[in-house]
Amino acid sequence: MTAREWIIVNPGGSRRVVVTKELPGARWQQLLTAADCRVEVSQSTEILSEAELRAAFGDHCDAAIGQLTESWSAETLGALRAAGAAIYSQYAVGYDNVDVAAATRLGLPVGNTPGVLTEATAQLAVALTFAAARRIAEGDRVMRAGAYHGWLPSMLLGALIYRATLGIVGAGRVGAAYARMMVEGHKMDLVYYDVRANEELEAYIADYAAFLVAHGERPVTCRRAGALPELLGACDVVSIHAALTEETQHLIGAPELAAMKEDAVIVNASRGALVDEAALARHCRAHPRFRAGLDVYENEPAMAPGLAELDNVVLAPHLGSATTWTREGMATLAAANVAAILRGWPVWRAARGLEDVLPFLGDEEPPRAAPSIVNADELGLPRLAAQAPTKEDQQ
Ligand code: DGY
Repeated sequence: MTAREWIIVNPGGSRRVVVTKELPGARWQQLLTAADCRVEVSQSTEILSEAELRAAFGDHCDAAIGQLTESWSAETLGALRAAGAAIYSQYAVGYDNVDVAAATRLGLPVGNTPGVLTEATAQLAVALTFAAARRIAEGDRVMRAGAYHGWLPSMLLGALIYRATLGIVGAGRVGAAYARMMVEGHKMDLVYYDVRANEELEAYIADYAAFLVAHGERPVTCRRAGALPELLGACDVVSIHAALTEETQHLIGAPELAAMKEDAVIVNASRGALVDEAALARHCRAHPRFRAGLDVYENEPAMAPGLAELDNVVLAPHLGSATTWTREGMATLAAANVAAILRGWPVWRAARGLEDVLPFLGDEEPPRAAPSIVNADELGLPRLAAQAPTKEDQQ
Protein backbone atom coordinates (compact mmCIF):
# COMPACT_ATOMS: atom_id res chain seq x y z
CA MET A 1 0.00 0.00 0.00
CA THR A 2 1.16 3.50 -0.69
CA ALA A 3 1.20 6.35 1.84
CA ARG A 4 -1.67 7.96 -0.09
CA GLU A 5 -3.92 5.11 1.05
CA TRP A 6 -3.81 6.27 4.68
CA ILE A 7 -5.48 9.35 6.06
CA ILE A 8 -4.36 11.01 9.25
CA VAL A 9 -6.76 12.31 11.88
CA ASN A 10 -5.42 14.76 14.47
CA PRO A 11 -1.88 14.87 13.03
CA GLY A 12 -0.57 16.69 16.11
CA GLY A 13 -1.52 13.89 18.53
CA SER A 14 1.35 12.41 20.50
CA ARG A 15 0.12 8.77 20.55
CA ARG A 16 0.15 6.91 17.26
CA VAL A 17 -2.87 4.65 16.61
CA VAL A 18 -3.19 2.52 13.48
CA VAL A 19 -6.75 1.73 12.28
CA THR A 20 -6.82 -0.84 9.51
CA LYS A 21 -10.15 0.19 7.92
CA GLU A 22 -12.21 3.36 7.67
CA LEU A 23 -14.90 3.10 10.38
CA PRO A 24 -18.38 4.65 10.31
CA GLY A 25 -19.42 7.63 12.42
CA ALA A 26 -17.46 10.48 13.97
CA ARG A 27 -17.55 9.64 17.68
CA TRP A 28 -14.68 7.15 17.55
CA GLN A 29 -12.35 9.78 16.11
CA GLN A 30 -13.44 12.29 18.77
CA LEU A 31 -12.63 9.81 21.55
CA LEU A 32 -9.17 9.12 20.15
CA THR A 33 -8.47 12.79 19.48
CA ALA A 34 -9.45 13.61 23.08
CA ALA A 35 -6.93 10.97 24.19
CA ASP A 36 -4.19 12.86 22.29
CA CYS A 37 -3.94 10.26 19.51
CA ARG A 38 -2.70 10.77 15.97
CA VAL A 39 -4.89 8.29 14.13
CA GLU A 40 -3.72 6.70 10.87
CA VAL A 41 -6.62 5.12 9.01
CA SER A 42 -6.15 2.76 6.08
CA GLN A 43 -8.37 3.67 3.12
CA SER A 44 -7.98 0.25 1.52
CA THR A 45 -11.03 -1.98 1.13
CA GLU A 46 -8.75 -5.00 0.63
CA ILE A 47 -7.91 -7.30 3.55
CA LEU A 48 -4.51 -6.20 4.88
CA SER A 49 -1.91 -8.96 4.98
CA GLU A 50 0.20 -9.56 8.08
CA ALA A 51 3.16 -7.99 6.27
CA GLU A 52 1.06 -4.88 5.56
CA LEU A 53 -0.05 -4.72 9.21
CA ARG A 54 3.53 -4.96 10.42
CA ALA A 55 4.65 -2.31 7.95
CA ALA A 56 1.89 -0.06 9.24
CA PHE A 57 3.06 -0.37 12.87
CA GLY A 58 6.64 0.50 11.87
CA ASP A 59 8.91 0.93 14.86
CA HIS A 60 6.48 3.03 16.85
CA CYS A 61 2.78 2.43 17.37
CA ASP A 62 0.83 2.94 20.61
CA ALA A 63 -2.30 1.00 19.68
CA ALA A 64 -4.16 -0.61 16.79
CA ILE A 65 -7.79 -1.20 15.87
CA GLY A 66 -8.20 -4.11 13.47
CA GLN A 67 -10.76 -6.21 11.65
CA LEU A 68 -12.12 -9.76 11.91
CA THR A 69 -10.89 -10.41 8.36
CA GLU A 70 -7.24 -9.95 9.31
CA SER A 71 -4.89 -12.45 10.90
CA TRP A 72 -3.65 -11.19 14.27
CA SER A 73 -1.20 -14.00 14.87
CA ALA A 74 1.42 -14.26 17.61
CA GLU A 75 3.99 -12.79 15.20
CA THR A 76 1.85 -9.81 14.26
CA LEU A 77 0.85 -9.12 17.87
CA GLY A 78 4.54 -9.48 18.81
CA ALA A 79 5.46 -6.85 16.20
CA LEU A 80 2.73 -4.57 17.55
CA ARG A 81 4.01 -4.99 21.09
CA ALA A 82 7.61 -4.45 19.97
CA ALA A 83 6.50 -1.16 18.39
CA GLY A 84 5.40 -0.12 21.89
CA ALA A 85 1.65 -0.74 21.67
CA ALA A 86 -0.37 -0.85 24.88
CA ILE A 87 -3.53 -2.38 23.35
CA TYR A 88 -5.04 -4.03 20.30
CA SER A 89 -8.81 -3.64 19.85
CA GLN A 90 -10.82 -5.73 17.46
CA TYR A 91 -13.68 -3.99 15.63
CA ALA A 92 -16.02 -6.94 16.32
CA VAL A 93 -17.30 -9.01 19.20
CA GLY A 94 -15.79 -12.24 17.79
CA TYR A 95 -12.02 -12.60 17.94
CA ASP A 96 -11.21 -16.06 16.60
CA ASN A 97 -8.71 -14.37 14.23
CA VAL A 98 -6.72 -13.02 17.19
CA ASP A 99 -4.21 -15.14 19.11
CA VAL A 100 -5.40 -13.91 22.51
CA ALA A 101 -3.18 -16.38 24.39
CA ALA A 102 -0.14 -14.89 22.64
CA ALA A 103 -1.35 -11.36 23.38
CA THR A 104 -1.69 -12.28 27.05
CA ARG A 105 1.84 -13.72 27.09
CA LEU A 106 3.00 -10.42 25.57
CA GLY A 107 1.11 -8.46 28.24
CA LEU A 108 -1.06 -6.90 25.52
CA PRO A 109 -4.74 -6.19 26.30
CA VAL A 110 -7.19 -7.25 23.55
CA GLY A 111 -10.42 -5.28 23.27
CA ASN A 112 -13.65 -6.19 21.47
CA THR A 113 -17.15 -4.73 20.99
CA PRO A 114 -19.84 -6.85 22.72
CA GLY A 115 -23.40 -5.83 23.52
CA VAL A 116 -23.88 -3.24 20.78
CA LEU A 117 -24.42 -5.80 18.02
CA THR A 118 -26.50 -8.41 19.84
CA GLU A 119 -29.93 -7.34 18.61
CA ALA A 120 -28.74 -6.49 15.08
CA THR A 121 -27.10 -9.90 14.62
CA ALA A 122 -30.06 -11.76 16.12
CA GLN A 123 -32.42 -9.86 13.81
CA LEU A 124 -30.31 -10.80 10.78
CA ALA A 125 -30.54 -14.45 11.85
CA VAL A 126 -34.33 -14.04 12.10
CA ALA A 127 -34.37 -12.47 8.64
CA LEU A 128 -32.36 -15.38 7.20
CA THR A 129 -34.62 -17.89 8.93
CA PHE A 130 -37.68 -16.50 7.19
CA ALA A 131 -35.89 -15.77 3.92
CA ALA A 132 -34.96 -19.45 3.78
CA ALA A 133 -38.23 -20.88 5.12
CA ARG A 134 -40.42 -18.62 2.95
CA ARG A 135 -38.19 -18.70 -0.13
CA ILE A 136 -37.83 -14.92 -0.37
CA ALA A 137 -34.66 -14.93 -2.48
CA GLU A 138 -36.19 -17.40 -4.95
CA GLY A 139 -39.26 -15.17 -5.20
CA ASP A 140 -37.05 -12.13 -5.78
CA ARG A 141 -35.32 -13.95 -8.64
CA VAL A 142 -38.69 -14.88 -10.17
CA MET A 143 -39.81 -11.25 -10.11
CA ARG A 144 -36.59 -9.87 -11.56
CA ALA A 145 -36.66 -12.46 -14.33
CA GLY A 146 -40.18 -11.37 -15.32
CA ALA A 147 -41.27 -14.96 -14.60
CA TYR A 148 -44.24 -14.13 -12.36
CA HIS A 149 -47.34 -14.69 -14.45
CA GLY A 150 -49.94 -14.52 -11.67
CA TRP A 151 -50.81 -16.04 -8.29
CA LEU A 152 -50.83 -19.81 -8.21
CA PRO A 153 -51.97 -22.13 -5.37
CA SER A 154 -48.76 -24.07 -5.24
CA MET A 155 -46.10 -21.58 -6.23
CA LEU A 156 -42.96 -21.43 -4.04
CA LEU A 157 -44.50 -23.11 -1.01
CA GLY A 158 -42.37 -22.83 2.09
CA ALA A 159 -42.54 -23.81 5.75
CA LEU A 160 -44.76 -22.19 8.39
CA ILE A 161 -42.58 -21.24 11.35
CA TYR A 162 -45.23 -21.13 14.07
CA ARG A 163 -45.59 -23.36 17.14
CA ALA A 164 -42.67 -25.33 15.69
CA THR A 165 -39.51 -26.38 17.52
CA LEU A 166 -36.49 -24.10 17.51
CA GLY A 167 -32.95 -25.23 18.23
CA ILE A 168 -30.12 -22.89 19.08
CA VAL A 169 -26.54 -24.07 19.24
CA GLY A 170 -24.89 -21.65 21.65
CA ALA A 171 -27.06 -19.67 24.07
CA GLY A 172 -24.81 -16.67 24.68
CA ARG A 173 -25.77 -13.06 24.00
CA VAL A 174 -26.80 -13.37 20.32
CA GLY A 175 -28.21 -16.90 20.59
CA ALA A 176 -30.41 -15.93 23.53
CA ALA A 177 -31.61 -12.73 21.79
CA TYR A 178 -32.49 -14.72 18.65
CA ALA A 179 -34.26 -17.35 20.76
CA ARG A 180 -36.38 -14.72 22.51
CA MET A 181 -37.35 -13.12 19.18
CA MET A 182 -38.35 -16.45 17.67
CA VAL A 183 -40.07 -17.90 20.75
CA GLU A 184 -42.04 -14.75 21.57
CA GLY A 185 -42.80 -13.83 17.98
CA HIS A 186 -43.74 -17.26 16.72
CA LYS A 187 -44.60 -19.25 19.87
CA MET A 188 -41.91 -21.84 19.33
CA ASP A 189 -40.70 -24.47 21.76
CA LEU A 190 -37.00 -24.01 22.42
CA VAL A 191 -34.25 -26.59 22.68
CA TYR A 192 -30.77 -25.21 23.30
CA TYR A 193 -27.33 -26.74 23.36
CA ASP A 194 -24.57 -25.02 25.30
CA VAL A 195 -21.84 -26.09 27.68
CA ARG A 196 -23.43 -23.71 30.21
CA ALA A 197 -27.03 -23.52 31.30
CA ASN A 198 -28.57 -20.14 30.48
CA GLU A 199 -30.79 -19.75 33.52
CA GLU A 200 -31.79 -16.21 32.58
CA LEU A 201 -33.11 -17.40 29.21
CA GLU A 202 -34.89 -20.36 30.79
CA ALA A 203 -36.56 -18.07 33.34
CA TYR A 204 -37.56 -15.60 30.60
CA ILE A 205 -39.24 -18.32 28.57
CA ALA A 206 -40.92 -19.78 31.67
CA ASP A 207 -42.40 -16.31 32.33
CA TYR A 208 -43.53 -16.04 28.71
CA ALA A 209 -45.12 -19.51 28.98
CA ALA A 210 -47.02 -18.34 32.08
CA PHE A 211 -48.13 -15.24 30.16
CA LEU A 212 -49.53 -17.44 27.36
CA VAL A 213 -51.39 -19.60 29.86
CA ALA A 214 -52.84 -16.48 31.49
CA HIS A 215 -54.18 -15.56 28.04
CA GLY A 216 -55.75 -18.97 27.55
CA GLU A 217 -53.05 -20.24 25.20
CA ARG A 218 -50.89 -23.32 25.22
CA PRO A 219 -47.51 -22.55 26.85
CA VAL A 220 -44.17 -22.80 25.07
CA THR A 221 -41.40 -24.97 26.49
CA CYS A 222 -37.66 -24.63 26.91
CA ARG A 223 -35.10 -27.32 27.57
CA ARG A 224 -31.35 -27.72 27.38
CA ALA A 225 -30.25 -30.67 25.23
CA GLY A 226 -27.71 -33.00 26.81
CA ALA A 227 -26.11 -33.65 23.41
CA LEU A 228 -26.15 -31.99 19.99
CA PRO A 229 -27.79 -34.89 18.06
CA GLU A 230 -30.75 -34.74 20.47
CA LEU A 231 -31.36 -31.12 19.43
CA LEU A 232 -30.75 -31.69 15.72
CA GLY A 233 -33.28 -34.49 15.41
CA ALA A 234 -35.99 -32.57 17.28
CA CYS A 235 -35.93 -29.16 15.66
CA ASP A 236 -37.60 -27.55 12.65
CA VAL A 237 -35.19 -24.61 12.71
CA VAL A 238 -31.60 -24.78 13.94
CA SER A 239 -29.56 -21.60 14.33
CA ILE A 240 -25.86 -21.63 15.16
CA HIS A 241 -24.56 -19.06 17.66
CA ALA A 242 -21.41 -20.64 19.06
CA ALA A 243 -17.96 -19.08 19.24
CA LEU A 244 -15.44 -20.54 16.79
CA THR A 245 -12.65 -22.44 18.53
CA GLU A 246 -10.59 -25.53 17.65
CA GLU A 247 -13.27 -27.60 19.42
CA THR A 248 -16.24 -26.08 17.59
CA GLN A 249 -14.77 -26.07 14.07
CA HIS A 250 -17.08 -28.17 11.84
CA LEU A 251 -19.47 -28.68 14.74
CA ILE A 252 -22.04 -29.26 12.00
CA GLY A 253 -20.78 -31.70 9.39
CA ALA A 254 -22.33 -34.42 7.23
CA PRO A 255 -23.43 -36.65 10.16
CA GLU A 256 -25.06 -33.74 11.98
CA LEU A 257 -26.88 -32.60 8.84
CA ALA A 258 -28.07 -36.16 8.28
CA ALA A 259 -29.49 -36.14 11.83
CA MET A 260 -31.71 -33.15 11.03
CA LYS A 261 -35.25 -33.29 9.70
CA GLU A 262 -35.38 -33.50 5.92
CA ASP A 263 -37.30 -30.20 5.67
CA ALA A 264 -35.49 -28.35 8.46
CA VAL A 265 -33.99 -24.86 8.17
CA ILE A 266 -30.41 -24.23 9.29
CA VAL A 267 -29.10 -20.70 9.89
CA ASN A 268 -25.56 -19.55 10.52
CA ALA A 269 -24.80 -15.90 11.35
CA SER A 270 -21.88 -16.53 13.70
CA ARG A 271 -18.73 -17.96 12.06
CA GLY A 272 -18.57 -19.94 8.84
CA ALA A 273 -16.15 -22.64 9.97
CA LEU A 274 -18.65 -23.90 12.56
CA VAL A 275 -20.27 -25.63 9.58
CA ASP A 276 -18.56 -27.91 7.08
CA GLU A 277 -19.64 -25.83 4.09
CA ALA A 278 -18.84 -28.44 1.44
CA ALA A 279 -20.93 -31.00 3.37
CA LEU A 280 -23.75 -28.45 3.67
CA ALA A 281 -23.70 -27.84 -0.09
CA ARG A 282 -23.88 -31.60 -0.73
CA HIS A 283 -26.72 -31.98 1.79
CA CYS A 284 -28.76 -29.12 0.30
CA ARG A 285 -28.27 -30.50 -3.20
CA ALA A 286 -29.44 -33.94 -2.13
CA HIS A 287 -32.37 -32.63 -0.02
CA PRO A 288 -34.25 -29.89 -1.90
CA ARG A 289 -36.77 -29.45 0.95
CA PHE A 290 -33.95 -28.68 3.40
CA ARG A 291 -33.10 -24.96 3.57
CA ALA A 292 -30.15 -22.92 4.72
CA GLY A 293 -29.67 -19.24 5.49
CA LEU A 294 -26.02 -18.23 5.66
CA ASP A 295 -24.38 -14.94 6.60
CA VAL A 296 -20.88 -16.32 7.18
CA TYR A 297 -18.56 -18.65 5.27
CA GLU A 298 -15.74 -20.98 6.06
CA ASN A 299 -13.18 -19.18 3.89
CA GLU A 300 -14.58 -15.68 3.54
CA PRO A 301 -14.97 -14.07 1.12
CA ALA A 302 -14.97 -17.36 -0.87
CA MET A 303 -17.85 -19.83 -0.83
CA ALA A 304 -17.81 -23.61 -1.19
CA PRO A 305 -18.19 -24.62 -4.84
CA GLY A 306 -21.79 -25.24 -5.78
CA LEU A 307 -23.37 -23.34 -2.89
CA ALA A 308 -24.29 -20.34 -5.03
CA GLU A 309 -26.16 -22.54 -7.54
CA LEU A 310 -28.56 -23.96 -4.94
CA ASP A 311 -32.06 -22.50 -4.76
CA ASN A 312 -32.62 -23.78 -1.23
CA VAL A 313 -29.77 -21.68 0.17
CA VAL A 314 -30.07 -17.95 0.98
CA LEU A 315 -26.77 -16.10 1.09
CA ALA A 316 -25.80 -12.81 2.73
CA PRO A 317 -22.30 -11.25 2.86
CA HIS A 318 -21.64 -11.21 6.64
CA LEU A 319 -24.23 -8.52 7.38
CA GLY A 320 -25.09 -9.51 10.97
CA SER A 321 -24.04 -6.23 12.55
CA ALA A 322 -24.60 -4.11 9.45
CA THR A 323 -26.87 -1.35 10.70
CA THR A 324 -25.56 2.21 10.78
CA TRP A 325 -26.22 2.60 14.50
CA THR A 326 -24.54 -0.72 15.32
CA ARG A 327 -21.44 -0.21 13.21
CA GLU A 328 -20.99 3.32 14.58
CA GLY A 329 -21.42 1.92 18.08
CA MET A 330 -18.80 -0.77 17.41
CA ALA A 331 -16.37 1.95 16.30
CA THR A 332 -17.11 3.91 19.48
CA LEU A 333 -16.49 0.87 21.69
CA ALA A 334 -13.24 -0.07 19.91
CA ALA A 335 -11.96 3.52 20.23
CA ALA A 336 -13.10 3.71 23.86
CA ASN A 337 -11.09 0.54 24.59
CA VAL A 338 -7.97 2.11 23.08
CA ALA A 339 -8.46 5.55 24.66
CA ALA A 340 -9.08 4.10 28.12
CA ILE A 341 -6.03 1.80 28.14
CA LEU A 342 -3.77 4.57 26.79
CA ARG A 343 -5.03 6.83 29.57
CA GLY A 344 -4.49 4.18 32.25
CA TRP A 345 -8.18 3.82 33.03
CA PRO A 346 -9.70 0.58 34.40
CA VAL A 347 -11.92 -1.94 32.63
CA TRP A 348 -15.72 -1.85 32.58
CA ARG A 349 -17.62 -4.94 33.69
CA ALA A 350 -17.96 -7.76 31.17
CA ALA A 351 -20.85 -6.75 28.92
CA ARG A 352 -23.80 -9.10 28.80
CA GLY A 353 -25.97 -6.94 26.58
CA LEU A 354 -26.72 -3.53 25.19
CA GLU A 355 -27.68 -2.04 28.56
CA ASP A 356 -24.15 -2.70 29.81
CA VAL A 357 -22.46 -0.72 27.02
CA LEU A 358 -25.11 1.97 26.47
CA PRO A 359 -23.30 4.44 28.75
CA PHE A 360 -20.50 4.54 26.14
CA LEU A 361 -22.82 5.15 23.20
CA GLY A 362 -24.70 8.33 24.06
CA ASP A 363 -23.65 11.92 23.48
CA GLU A 364 -22.65 12.52 27.07
CA GLU A 365 -19.15 11.93 28.48
CA PRO A 366 -18.50 8.13 28.42
CA PRO A 367 -17.41 6.27 31.57
CA ARG A 368 -13.68 6.49 32.34
CA ALA A 369 -13.16 2.81 31.55
CA ALA A 370 -12.39 0.40 28.71
CA PRO A 371 -15.75 -1.15 27.67
CA SER A 372 -14.43 -4.66 26.99
CA ILE A 373 -10.97 -6.22 27.31
CA VAL A 374 -11.22 -9.97 26.76
CA ASN A 375 -8.00 -10.85 28.61
CA ALA A 376 -8.46 -8.30 31.41
CA ASP A 377 -8.59 -10.89 34.18
CA GLU A 378 -5.62 -12.88 32.84
CA LEU A 379 -3.60 -9.65 32.74
CA GLY A 380 -4.83 -8.59 36.18
CA LEU A 381 -6.18 -5.29 34.83
CA PRO A 382 -8.20 -3.35 37.40
CA ARG A 383 -11.94 -2.99 36.89
CA LEU A 384 -13.95 0.11 37.67
CA ALA A 385 -14.46 -0.08 41.44
CA ALA A 386 -18.24 0.24 41.34
CA GLN A 387 -18.38 -2.60 38.84
CA ALA A 388 -16.56 -5.60 40.19
CA PRO A 389 -17.41 -8.63 38.00
CA THR A 390 -20.55 -10.52 38.96
CA LYS A 391 -20.45 -14.27 39.64
CA GLU A 392 -21.79 -14.82 36.13
CA ASP A 393 -19.07 -12.70 34.51
CA GLN A 394 -16.41 -14.81 36.20
CA GLN A 395 -17.78 -18.14 34.94
C1 DGY B 1 -18.60 -9.81 15.02
O1 DGY B 1 -18.60 -8.72 15.61
O2 DGY B 1 -17.94 -10.76 15.42
C2 DGY B 1 -19.47 -9.93 13.85
O3 DGY B 1 -19.23 -11.07 13.11
C3 DGY B 1 -19.41 -8.69 12.98
O4 DGY B 1 -20.63 -8.61 12.33
